[in-house]
Amino acid sequence: MTELLMPTEEAIQKAAQLIKAGEVVGFPTETVYGLGADARNAEAIHKIFEAKGRPQDNPLIVHISSLEQIKDVISGEMPEQARLLAKYFWPGPLTMILPKGDNISLACTAGLDSVGVRYPSNECAQRLISAAAVPIAAPSANLSGKPSPTTAQHVYHDMNGKIPMILDGGSCSVGVESTVVDVRSTPVRVLRPGGVTPEMIAAVLGEVEVDGSVLRPLKENEVARSPGMKYKHYAPDGSLTIFKGETGKVAAEINRRYDESEKNACIFAFEAHKPLYGNRRLYSLGDDAASAAQRLFAALRNMDDIGVREIYSEAVDVQGMGLAVMNRLGRAAAFHIVEV
Ligand code: TXA
Ligand code: MG
Repeated sequence: MTELLMPTEEAIQKAAQLIKAGEVVGFPTETVYGLGADARNAEAIHKIFEAKGRPQDNPLIVHISSLEQIKDVISGEMPEQARLLAKYFWPGPLTMILPKGDNISLACTAGLDSVGVRYPSNECAQRLISAAAVPIAAPSANLSGKPSPTTAQHVYHDMNGKIPMILDGGSCSVGVESTVVDVRSTPVRVLRPGGVTPEMIAAVLGEVEVDGSVLRPLKENEVARSPGMKYKHYAPDGSLTIFKGETGKVAAEINRRYDESEKNACIFAFEAHKPLYGNRRLYSLGDDAASAAQRLFAALRNMDDIGVREIYSEAVDVQGMGLAVMNRLGRAAAFHIVEV
């Protein structure tokens, strides 16, 4: 029912026509795959919410393929801080929250007067947005609550039969969703960490704030600045626990629990630590936080595919890309973190 096509010129044109006609298309970006529709068309936007099973109060990000196109998305001029961030980090994995322009459907922003704007660097995404010649609203292309898709096959798994077409651009290079930054206040505030790290933003603007909800669950009655943060997210079918502390002690505790577990279990650990876990079942996070980011969602999906019921994961240091990884891993684990 859903066509999976390589991004040839013909396929891009076909996808662009579908979007112009008010349909929803799956497409790659450098972060994760998106489910795209015309950001001006409320009916098309509703199809996205329906396909994902997404709560109606969670706004979508609008994607552009040139700096010029931002005038079709926001109202007024870009503030100076936004201009600077755009200069250094666009195109790339950065979404800026700005005042919404009249063109953009309120269905897209869930009724908010602000809009998240992103200019992706992925070539296929850029070609699609240019060919459609409209701003494209796109959330991650997973079913709501599930890990974001980092391959076209992940999208197919979640969306087969629900959308007409998916463009296959291979694996996403960043692997976690874009950094979301509210640039309407000073200092700017990171609402969701991603490939553009707080350190990188501070290097350009001098200062940056990271929203408190990034590394913990929302408190009761706390208002989410980024509505997406309040929902259960990325959760695998099995249970996930994170272990934090000195590497040797973490490995000893994980091994103890693994050996005691009567369920189908798996360990997430960095490549260099593999020898500490003997021949227990292990999914490598690679060499560093960037590779952990790139692999994490595929790892979580793989656990569901092979029926793993208990996952024990090493924690990641929250510097640089590590913050984005711990934000996703923490949510996937419902913040079940053990200090050893
Ligand atoms: O990397 C990405 O950003 C991917 C690709 C496809 O571009 N998209 C993505 O979209 O992750 P989504 O819908 O899964 O996540 C958007 C996040 C949500 O947490 C949402 O609440 C927040 O951005 N957001 C969107 N518009 C907002 C706004 N106006 N104010 C505050 N938060 C906003
Ligand atoms: Mg998402």
